[in-house]
Amino acid sequence: MVLGVTGGIAAYKAAEIVSRLKKLGADVRVIMTKNACEFITPLTLETLSANPVVCDTFERARTWEVEHIALAARADLFLIAPATANLMAKMATGLADDMLSTTVLATRAPVLLAPAMNTAMWEHPATQENRERLARRGVRFVGPAEGHLACGTTGKGHIASVEDIVAQACALLCPVCDLQGRRVLVTAGPTREPLDPVRYLTNRSSGKMGYALAEAAAARGAEVTLLTGPVSLDVPHGVHALRFETTQDLLALALEHGPAQDIVIQAAAPADYRAQEVAPYKIKKADGEPLTLSLVENPDVAKALGERKRPGQLFVGFAAETNDVLAHARQKLERKRLDLIVANDVTRPGAGFDVDTNIVTLISREDMRELPILSKREVADRILDRVLELGAPASD
Ligand code: PMT
Repeated sequence: MVLGVTGGIAAYKAAEIVSRLKKLGADVRVIMTKNACEFITPLTLETLSANPVVCDTFERARTWEVEHIALAARADLFLIAPATANLMAKMATGLADDMLSTTVLATRAPVLLAPAMNTAMWEHPATQENRERLARRGVRFVGPAEGHLACGTTGKGHIASVEDIVAQACALLCPVCDLQGRRVLVTAGPTREPLDPVRYLTNRSSGKMGYALAEAAAARGAEVTLLTGPVSLDVPHGVHALRFETTQDLLALALEHGPAQDIVIQAAAPADYRAQEVAPYKIKKADGEPLTLSLVENPDVAKALGERKRPGQLFVGFAAETNDVLAHARQKLERKRLDLIVANDVTRPGAGFDVDTNIVTLISREDMRELPILSKREVADRILDRVLELGAPASD
């Protein structure tokens, strides 16, 4: 993990934070701003973290400057304690003018800020707007607390306790590690079946449901492989993504990677049909005559995986339906040899394709559980909870 330290009187707390995190087994990489080095020496944090400290004024850090992107990419958590009003303002506007602001802008890891400043600065509308903006982007905050401040006043702006900061950091590093040791394969998004060099058949899947599943499984400690169709989403942190275009591409990837998995969750929407022949040139208009396309059936990826299922593997499928939802979903559960099927009535507002929420029913051979409208991320966690109840085994 990365610990960023900015320049404020609370910078000395960084020493205790590093020391506690190290005792808990974390590999802590410290980045200090120039001002932070006025309050606490890099040598202190270098000694406590047993790693070189990156600091803008620090001679030895020069080689690190080229490596900051790697540091940003490797981090599983980015904690900044203390975080000044200035740092929050830079982050809110995307400013990157030193090592810390540059590295945090480049990371996809969860970011946790422990603000510390004078009460008036904390309460200033500019700081509050920045806090809200950052929170909307997913940045987490611990504190500030009420307390006696260095400027002689008492109020909000005191850095949170070291215990709270370390506890929140641990919760973010591994909120519930109940999928630790499990290999999870998730499929997501639509396929594109080419008709000619410029056209293809596709569907309305955005990939949001599958990406939420991949993100949730990774956050719960699983080793996640995501097979993704063409979507415009960022691959979640810590997830290994492989891309497909057509249903046949997906089949090849699923057959290659499926056998090694403990859990396979198929949220992709693969096309059931493809063009019998892909025209080598752009298909031209035919003077008002109808154009007839001949389509042939694509392989059923879930069925193919189901036929190869080895004992102990647990397979989850989705059913995107518009009528007789539960009956169709149950048939798919059997036909594709799934252990659980997530039935989606894609006609309901707030459910199915290209929205941030979903309304699903989880159907296993044991029972059926109807869920209320939830965010796709929440649905993902409920699916994973059910998978664990059904007894997903861990890899050897
Ligand atoms: O991507 P989003 O915009 O977030 O939307 C989410 C979703 C609606 C795409 C998703 O929640 C969903 O329902 N995915 C399944 C879509 C689908 O193809 O449903 P189906 O009923 O046609 O297929 C049933 C199951 O078989 C699915 O697990 C599917 O991945 C799989 N399948 C389907 C066709 C095929 N040729 N091979 C398959 O493996």
